Amino acid sequence: MSARKIIIDTDPGQDDAVAILTALASPDDLDVLGITAVAGNVPLSLTARNARIVCELAGRTDVPVYAGCDAPLTRKLVTAEHVHGKTGLDGPVLPEPTMTLADGHAVDFIIETLRREEPGTVTLCPLGPLTNIATAFERAPDVAERVQEIVLMGGAYFEVGNITPTAEFNIYVDPEAADIVFKSGAPIIVHPLDVTHKALVTRDRNDAFRALGTPVGTAVAEMTDFFERFDKEKYGSLGAPLHDPCVTAYLLEPELFSGRHINVEIETTSELTRGMTVADWWGVTDRPANAIFIGDLDADGFFALLTERLSRL
Ligand code: RIB
Ligand code: CA
Repeated sequence: MSARKIIIDTDPGQDDAVAILTALASPDDLDVLGITAVAGNVPLSLTARNARIVCELAGRTDVPVYAGCDAPLTRKLVTAEHVHGKTGLDGPVLPEPTMTLADGHAVDFIIETLRREEPGTVTLCPLGPLTNIATAFERAPDVAERVQEIVLMGGAYFEVGNITPTAEFNIYVDPEAADIVFKSGAPIIVHPLDVTHKALVTRDRNDAFRALGTPVGTAVAEMTDFFERFDKEKYGSLGAPLHDPCVTAYLLEPELFSGRHINVEIETTSELTRGMTVADWWGVTDRPANAIFIGDLDADGFFALLTERLSRL
């Protein structure tokens, strides 16, 4: 079977980096047509830099990296240096990228790719705020129906928020963009904090990354050593939640995950609950189902998959 065509839209971010590395380690399964950077964890200049650093770490400078939107559709950018460090990729010491950015804006790349490829053959994998995706759908209303699936990390329901009491960061940063995407009609699979907070990099799991004894394994372990501080201090958790790699793992082994096809809507008007994903998990409304909302995973299987794939780089 031919490799699945994907575009990774990202705001690296240590967890984004692990998701990208896992995808780039799997060329027989995932054909990464391009990586589109968006402002999120850190400003665009850094997310576009970090995406290229990760491509070079993976030895995959064949994958074009495009710079996208540097701010949310209407709101002021909120970043997360308190979690990811000032560079967004704190932890390992990695060389500055030598590969250049691909020509053109990320949004144009998304639109052109969706129009060029056969309908229903390109999967969008947003790992950050949904600004690039929403801008593409607004600028080219014909492309949403050409998307195979949108498999994204974002939102929260039972787990509630990580940037406010009610909102997860990716959705909080650009709720208007998320609202456009969730109303686009494209098939959506959501990996919220409800599942990503069960994908914790415990000491043993991080030791398995380090034991790979490769530059990739060492870099991932050092990223996690840095990235875990925030969640261990805030939640007392056993390790860093590997949010974004849930998206890549789902593409590779969807049977590791479980969820429900439900209605999910985005709070965009209240400042108190801005960016909340209102997930009708119990079906108490007649609002139409528009997303598969993932609630659980086989964590040991997830980490076995990640470790094996990363060992290939
Ligand atoms: O809330 C977690 C999400 O926000 C992850 O994608 C992380 O990288 C940040 O973008
Ligand atoms: Ca991210």
